[in-house]
Amino acid sequence: MAEKAKIAILISGRGSNMAAFVYAAKSPDCPYAIELVASNDPDAPGLQLAQAEGIATFAHPHKGLAREAHDAIMHDAIVRSGAEYVVLAGYMRILSDGFVRKWTDHMLNIHPSLLPKYKGLDTYQRAIDAGDRVAGCSVHLVTAELDDGPVLAQTEVAILPDDDADRLASRILIAEHQLYPATLARYVTREADPDWILDQVRQRALALAETHERPSFGAPGWRVGSATTGKYFAYFAQSHHGEASIALLVKTTGLDEQGALIDADPDLYYAPKFYGKSGWIAIRLDTGSTDWDHVADRLYRSWCQVAPKRLTRLIAIADQF
Ligand code: GRF
Repeated sequence: MAEKAKIAILISGRGSNMAAFVYAAKSPDCPYAIELVASNDPDAPGLQLAQAEGIATFAHPHKGLAREAHDAIMHDAIVRSGAEYVVLAGYMRILSDGFVRKWTDHMLNIHPSLLPKYKGLDTYQRAIDAGDRVAGCSVHLVTAELDDGPVLAQTEVAILPDDDADRLASRILIAEHQLYPATLARYVTREADPDWILDQVRQRALALAETHERPSFGAPGWRVGSATTGKYFAYFAQSHHGEASIALLVKTTGLDEQGALIDADPDLYYAPKFYGKSGWIAIRLDTGSTDWDHVADRLYRSWCQVAPKRLTRLIAIADQF
């Protein structure tokens, strides 16, 4: 199994979600390990549980400190622990923009509503008052806006006729304890998920001018130009033609460049089958350490090879400035 992702959990209170992570992480095939449980409250009950389970803890009260200063102290502790992901689990602090930026795409939160409904507090009563038939919880990436980042997963929880906020909250909490550890597991292993990889390629390919997607013999492909005269500049190969790897196929300037790339890094590049002496190169996307800027650059170079002159001419002019 690949190395486990290192996570830090931030709590302010009882830490029942944190406990769910602690027990999930005891499973040998869990893809993450908890390096630290940290709190803004030294008396948070969750800290005791973490200590009893042999997990490193850290606490620093926020009282008397500017938000940025307290966040910086927490950030340092997290970095020192070696954690690559921050998991907010009932951390009752609004985070400074600087802290959020440092952990972009590496910080998750759970919120007890079906986002985008009911951001902020009092979510259960608001759902009941609105006459909703279902409430629930959402795991989302943390962005500068409160409870607003991209939702990774949700669980719906039925509202019963005689529910009050407390009863509903306790059922949603059960759902949280299932959803959060499972979602984190999927998130930290996303780079091995072919759909995630395809989506990364797609975003970068379609960001180039006048491109569209069109499958070619069942594989996703991207073309530049019009729907009728467009030319392919990239293909996504997933176990294509019997090759085991997931790879991006792009055009080089020719056989010389293709050969030079393979010589320079034979673990990353190979000559794709059935593209013979055409100068197409395969770049593996399943090594676990894909450099996505490099992929974007290769897509762009390939696009330049086949794009209509009127497009490449504009770029040549722009490059002079
Ligand atoms: C949960 O209700 C969660 O949805 C919210 O804070 C609460 C944390 O509870 N973000 P616990 O400390 O994990 O028990």
